[in-house]
Amino acid sequence: MNAREVALRCLRRIEEDGAYANLVTPVELGRSRLEPRDRRFVTDLVYGTTRMRRACDALVDRFVSSEPAPEVRTLLRLGAYQLEFAGVPPHAAVGETVALASKRVRGFVNAVLRNVERASMQWPSDAVRLSYPDWLFDRLVDALGRDDALAAMAVMNEPPTVTERADGYIQDLGSQWVASAVEAAAGELVLDACAAPGGKATAIAACGATVVAADSQPHRVALIIENAARVNTPGVLSVVADMTRPPFVGEHAPFDHVLVDAPCSGLGTLRRRPDARWRIEPGDVDQLALLQQRLIDASAPLVKPGGTFTYSVCTLLAEESTAHRLPGGFGPISEPPPGEWRRFGDGWRVLPHEAGTDGMILLRYRRTS
Ligand SMILES: C[S@@+](CC[C@H](N)C(=O)[O-])C[C@H]1O[C@@H](n2cnc3c(N)ncnc32)[C@H](O)[C@@H]1O
Repeated sequence: MNAREVALRCLRRIEEDGAYANLVTPVELGRSRLEPRDRRFVTDLVYGTTRMRRACDALVDRFVSSEPAPEVRTLLRLGAYQLEFAGVPPHAAVGETVALASKRVRGFVNAVLRNVERASMQWPSDAVRLSYPDWLFDRLVDALGRDDALAAMAVMNEPPTVTERADGYIQDLGSQWVASAVEAAAGELVLDACAAPGGKATAIAACGATVVAADSQPHRVALIIENAARVNTPGVLSVVADMTRPPFVGEHAPFDHVLVDAPCSGLGTLRRRPDARWRIEPGDVDQLALLQQRLIDASAPLVKPGGTFTYSVCTLLAEESTAHRLPGGFGPISEPPPGEWRRFGDGWRVLPHEAGTDGMILLRYRRTS
């Protein structure tokens, strides 16, 4: 199979079977015998076509009078992506894509893609041009203001940067800044309440602290164990636990630092998860906000007096961050954390187009009583 055939297979599994782009692509690449350069091309075609699905449909729909069969729709999106966004020369974008069509629809696919190639596009809205669902576009504009929202959404249509830590762990720089913000020291005891797959837990333990790394998903706790062993960080103690009901008993709060890197809508990491924008629904944010508040309520009391509580999310919304309340006895830490954060309410935020990182929000508190 050539690169476009592999890409089409991935896209059909995403569109027709609901597969996740970041899971199905490595599996299909593993089955192929493609060279590294072609593998990168497949990833760009799959991720890019998935992200730009709404924009690709708008390009195509000008020349289609009735809804094509799902496999034809996917092929047209793949062709439109190459023509409009991937910088593929038009003769290859059209010719190689048409070659993947069944004989019955080859003429149709060819005619539509030739039209897409020739006609200039008047985008009906920025949401269509940037390829986001309307509700999500509006929500980001409300949260960030129009200029920052448009810039953030444009950057989240690009492939992510890859950053590698000194120990070889691949981790976004923003996540590395969150781990540093915990400011743990050798000999201290830290709770990472939502720890899988262990990116921040292993970074925190590297200083010589002991990190209790909890997560509610057993298969994800297995990833913490694997990752801690791989980067040779013995100070990570993994535990399966629902941290809305922490399994730690005793009269005294035991931890010098608690980190809640909460499950969230992930709206700051859309460049990494190309299909996420089509999966997330408006109600999900409210559900997640409730869970996040429960995790805060249950985990913050485990901080010793004088210790710190850090809360982070890889989203951009106040509803999932600054709107939350801590139990009594905590005060915000006002010193800026390491990294390129900007003030956001009582906390800090980094936007995806500012520092080349994922978008994140960070809140830090000290327990005063
Ligand atoms: C944003 S991820 C954590 C990423 C991790 N801190 C890292 O840096 O690699 C959120 C995690 O919270 C876990 N989670 C969700 N609900 C939970 C709960 N009630 N208790 C503990 N963990 C939970 C999820 O399984 C997921 O692994």
